[in-house]
Amino acid sequence: MKNLVIAIDGYSSCGKSTTAKAVAATLHYAYLDTGAMYRGVTLFLLENNIAFDDMARIEHALRHDIHISFKRNSKTGRNELCLNDKIREDDIRQMRISNSVSEVSVIVQVRHAMVAQQQRMGRRRGVVMDGRDIGTTVFPDAEVKIFMTADVEVRARRRQEELAGKGEHVDLADIIENLRKRDHIDSTRAESPLRRASDAVLLDTTHITINEQVDFVLDKVSSALFAAYANKQLHG
Ligand code: DC
Repeated sequence: MKNLVIAIDGYSSCGKSTTAKAVAATLHYAYLDTGAMYRGVTLFLLENNIAFDDMARIEHALRHDIHISFKRNSKTGRNELCLNDKIREDDIRQMRISNSVSEVSVIVQVRHAMVAQQQRMGRRRGVVMDGRDIGTTVFPDAEVKIFMTADVEVRARRRQEELAGKGEHVDLADIIENLRKRDHIDSTRAESPLRRASDAVLLDTTHITINEQVDFVLDKVSSALFAAYANKQLHG
């Protein structure tokens, strides 16, 4: 089977990562959560008191002090984000990181470093990546591109439940404000803003279940594989 790149982009908390993980598991593909990488950089800057406009320190840190990787948790089977070889998965999901990560993702030097690493990690293809700019910037040649959206209140409720499951109780209004702010910053930044690639398929998850989202993507994967096969038959 041809190894594809599957790009799943879209607004915050639309179910991108849940869908991407399930699709990767079904296809035995790798899964890369690119948002976790920006969260890891944000955690490093906050913990080291590096201001988001201190470009000299940020560039130095990116080059010498920030090492982002993923480690498979043998109990859950999930990939967890490591910052400098230490698992920081729980820390990067906290609201304090969600409240700052979009500001960090605007920084051009941060984007260049993360995009280069993501391209290296996906170079063998056979990967599902979720993020904001996968179909437009990281892998513009991805065979399957999905752009996910959903009503902001539905997204906020889902995020609230997810945080509550980890013991963090946050007001719905605060989550809605955070999602709106992040969507705005992510879509209006100069460097690789969040936008739907012209060849991405829109998937609105407001009224559908996770299983339906996964089936939708798998259906697009089947079509892409069929197209690749037919193309090979025709052109050798
Ligand atoms: O997917 P997430 O909510 O964990 O992403 C956190 C932030 O990271 C998001 O608000 C914008 C940024 N991000 C990005 O700029 N580009 C990506 N490919 C992925 C995430």
